[in-house]
Amino acid sequence: YVDADELSRAVAVQFASTINAATAAGKKCVLGLATGSTPVMVYRELVRLHKEGSLSFRNVITFNLDEYYGIHPDDLQSYHKFMAVHLFDHITDMDPSNIHIPKGLLHESEVQRHCDEYEAAIEEAGGIDLQLLGLGRMGHIGFNERGTSRESRTHMVYLDRVTRLDAASDFFGEQHVPRRAITMGISTILKARRILLMAFGENKAGTAARCVEGPITSQVPASFLQEHPNASVLLDLAASSGLT
Ligand code: F6R
Repeated sequence: YVDADELSRAVAVQFASTINAATAAGKKCVLGLATGSTPVMVYRELVRLHKEGSLSFRNVITFNLDEYYGIHPDDLQSYHKFMAVHLFDHITDMDPSNIHIPKGLLHESEVQRHCDEYEAAIEEAGGIDLQLLGLGRMGHIGFNERGTSRESRTHMVYLDRVTRLDAASDFFGEQHVPRRAITMGISTILKARRILLMAFGENKAGTAARCVEGPITSQVPASFLQEHPNASVLLDLAASSGLT
């Protein structure tokens, strides 16, 4: 794609047609959603289509990838807040009980059960039809950092130094960035029937190349997408500049 704008519109079209096809078939549509800077324009476009009247979320069930651990859902930097601001606050016909985001405010003793329940809820919904992903600078998907196993399920993780540095400005200083997060695992992500990973900008070029062309290794968690039968990596020109 020439630029992030064009790429985001194309992704929004895929989301809208997946939702509309499910609605036409009288089925639920289960979406896996990402946060961060990358998907912002996709959500803006989906909100536009919804406001225009051509996109209903009545049959939509969503599961977000991740949330910082120890953060209140109303905190500005929480992914609960992000999703409200960029998508859910603008959608008028979605059942709030169909929105799922890992909880950040949990006692340590509750984490494992919450993670198990998150996995069970995805299964109960029939699995994810379409999963959106961004790409971390060191190759993470969700918050599955370097070294995460292919078999991982929803779990608590320690964030990579690079991830925390990248989030530092949002938190007004690296020292305020949470050290841990709860994320869908790599196996959770790979179970989605269709996956779209988006990346733009030259600072993603090296990682995007390793994701698509490098060896499949837990040192670059996004490289596991090569094993998926229906995953696409969508790049703008700058992010594709490292490809051979
Ligand atoms: C967000 C997530 C992360 C981001 C990645 C890229 O839910 O799971 O993997 O997609 O860190 O972040 P941005 O888009 O801000 O460059």
